[in-house]
Amino acid sequence: MEQYFIKGGNPLKGTVDICGAKNAALALIAAAILTQEPVVISNLPDVSDINLLLDAIAQIGAVVERIDRHKVKIIGATVHSCVLNYEYISKIRASYYLLGSLLGRFHQAEVAMPGGCVIGARPIDQHIKGFEALGAVVDLEDGQIKARADALTGNHIYFDVVSVGATINVMLAAVLADGNTIIENPAKEPHVVDLANMLNSMGAHIRGAGTDVIRIRGVKSLHKTDYTVIPDQIEAGTFLFAGAATGGDVTVNNVIPKHLESITAKLEDIGCFIEEYDEAVRVVAGPQLHGTQVKTLPYPGFPTDMQPQMTVALTVSEGISTVTESIFENRFKYAGELARMGARIKIEANTAIITGVKHLKGAQVSAPDLRAGAALTIAGLAAQGVTQVGGVEYIQRGYEDFDVKLRSLGADIRKIDPADQEAIEQFRQKCS
Ligand code: EPZ
Repeated sequence: MEQYFIKGGNPLKGTVDICGAKNAALALIAAAILTQEPVVISNLPDVSDINLLLDAIAQIGAVVERIDRHKVKIIGATVHSCVLNYEYISKIRASYYLLGSLLGRFHQAEVAMPGGCVIGARPIDQHIKGFEALGAVVDLEDGQIKARADALTGNHIYFDVVSVGATINVMLAAVLADGNTIIENPAKEPHVVDLANMLNSMGAHIRGAGTDVIRIRGVKSLHKTDYTVIPDQIEAGTFLFAGAATGGDVTVNNVIPKHLESITAKLEDIGCFIEEYDEAVRVVAGPQLHGTQVKTLPYPGFPTDMQPQMTVALTVSEGISTVTESIFENRFKYAGELARMGARIKIEANTAIITGVKHLKGAQVSAPDLRAGAALTIAGLAAQGVTQVGGVEYIQRGYEDFDVKLRSLGADIRKIDPADQEAIEQFRQKCS
């Protein structure tokens, strides 16, 4: 698998267009098979997670017609199976959203149990609690989740944990149920609101998405729609932090500034200047970044998916900083890789204690997951010397043309097959 080769030290400057939100698009694709009529989704990011979920719904019989790189037509009328095999859940965890939509439409669904991953155990007890509250019987056997219901009836559901996935899955199952469903303590992320907006455009009746209580009045059926995915606030935040960590001046375009508020607030905390426009946000790095304290929280708090990128910026920020990860139990696996680049970082329980250094130094590192991979790439961009980042396949799960966009901002980054010694030699000679 190709790796990123980066010569650090170039301040990133310029404007980059942000794609549609991966974590919203995954929910919208699952929702599309709740109706037999055509659903057109625009502004899809061309990333492997999205392409895998489109393959998954095609595998159970949906028609998936690519209109262009970022637009697809889905026709759920031909769905002929409610059983999704292990191949998909092992590759894309969010295929478990098909539990909600298949249960919601067919009153039955079978999806392989999603395993944990490097960032945590990631149980699905709240998903199951919601399905059972709607009247489904859920069995876990042979590594499969088997859900079935004679009927689905609205209910009052209180989530013990704020969960994006459980909120989305229960919305998908409840939208065609008989009667009213109230979801208390739901996730309020923009992608939850995006799903509610698309379902309402299909004839659903959902109120309160993005607040502490979501109310769903079940409807008999849903109809076609033509819907556009919201911009990806995590991709946008990643480029803003890349601008900050490299001492640059970066504008992210096609964004909703409101969705970036917790991210831009922390950038100002560490000494950057932020300018907000209608559909763009600009960050200008201060002459010297300074440390701060941050804790990841459910939206509208500072997002856990921005935790690694924030940590990298703090490794080159003056003073002592702390980053507390309150969402996942094991999301600092990349800290050892940063330490190999000269970062002074200590992990105590779920908190990283960071002492800023003047510069990181290039090294060969390996990405353990999607967002840590993006963060290690940022570290390479900020470091002195050459950094080689392995695990690019993780990064490509959630970032479209990541290296291409970084090069357009002035980064000296190439994607090279590690077997291609000649290309590597050429890159290193150019850097020496
Ligand atoms: C979604 O994961 C995102 N993935 C994650 O993004 C993101 O980090 C996470 O939400 C938090 O924002 C997608 O949207 C595809 P949760 P999800 O359920 O839904 C616990 C990325 O990089 N929990 O909100 O799996 C869980 O263990 C990915 O794009 C339960 O205890 O996250 C965690 O501690 C990484 N029981 C917390 O809740 C449950 O039934 C939040 O998890 C469900 C979750």
